[in-house]
Amino acid sequence: MHINKTLTAIALAIGSIHSAYAADDLKIGMVLPMSGPFAVLGEHMLNGAELYIKQHGDSVAGRKVVLIVKDDTGFAPEISKRAAQELIVKDKVDILAGFGLTPSAFAVAPLATEAKMPMIVMSAATSSITTKSPYILRTSMTLPQITAPIATWASKNGIKTVYTVVADYGPGHDAEKQFVKTFTEAGGQIVGGVRTPVKNPDFAPFLQKIKDTKPDAVFFFAPAGGELGVAFLKGYKERGLDKAGIKLISTGDLTDEDVLGAMGDPTLGVMTSFHYSEVHDSALNKSYTQAYYKAYPDKRPNFITVAGYDAMHLVYDVLKKTGGDASGDKFIATAKGMKWESPRGPISIDPNTREIVQNIYIRKVEKVDGKLQNVEFDHIADVKDPTK
Ligand code: PHB
Repeated sequence: MHINKTLTAIALAIGSIHSAYAADDLKIGMVLPMSGPFAVLGEHMLNGAELYIKQHGDSVAGRKVVLIVKDDTGFAPEISKRAAQELIVKDKVDILAGFGLTPSAFAVAPLATEAKMPMIVMSAATSSITTKSPYILRTSMTLPQITAPIATWASKNGIKTVYTVVADYGPGHDAEKQFVKTFTEAGGQIVGGVRTPVKNPDFAPFLQKIKDTKPDAVFFFAPAGGELGVAFLKGYKERGLDKAGIKLISTGDLTDEDVLGAMGDPTLGVMTSFHYSEVHDSALNKSYTQAYYKAYPDKRPNFITVAGYDAMHLVYDVLKKTGGDASGDKFIATAKGMKWESPRGPISIDPNTREIVQNIYIRKVEKVDGKLQNVEFDHIADVKDPTK
């Protein structure tokens, strides 16, 4: 009897040591804009992450994967911070993920450092975000990474003068800086530039000024998910900038699949550089987009959904390697240098910067089977964030 009890106690003790993490749920705390003007970013990140789980099973390395979502409402760093604090302290999550907009990622970075917790950025794209904590990894993109290729393309395709228009916050500043650098180094000339408010900008006066300046092209950046791109394109057409021969070039945030349909035919011919297109030509992307439409029939897969999907891929691959250990230092060390095929093409995590390395495609909006799409016709392989 006594021996039996002792044996049971030993067995329980061994069991609990062995299952220190293995038997616990793997909790991923997602800080997402689920309401407000950028709610689609949150919805897309979540859709992508959930699709990966649906396809690959809801447990990895013996741990059940549980997503816990907190709404940060968009441009509200204090709310993002509070949400992350609750996820860490109350929900006892293992990993933080999400982050639609740059201010949200900046606000949470110190908490990831303090808690030594992996923080996977699925959207926010200001270059310096990953320098704010050694626990940050990114599966989206950086603005310099996606901007340099369209500047190079412009300089090689007869565009000699450009006017830049960017949203006035982190990613817009990054886009402007990189465009000016790459374009002028290639011999191009910047004839003007404006930073527009992030909230409810009135583009009319800027557009008139650009029209009067008569550049060969206008380079535009605004975050996807809101109404900025839609409003800009509308104004560009209404004021006749296209008819005046001023081309529109942009990062692919402008012609994101989510808004292409709503923006309609005025998008035809818009040139962008970006890392994901719904019509990226690969077997994996075909099966991914088919699965996406099956899971979410009314939604289009886009760069945000693929970043959510790839973030989960990263989590699963890391946990398989660590035997279920998601502790910060181990997770980050294991993630560094990982490579895999994404629906967007081959990707990897730069071991030095924890940034995503990926192909950047030059695309043009065209109709494919009657649907507006970003058709890729050239690419630069394995692009790193050029500022690091
Ligand atoms: C950002 O806030 O960093 C951001 C969000 C959406 C984008 C690009 C950048 O499309």
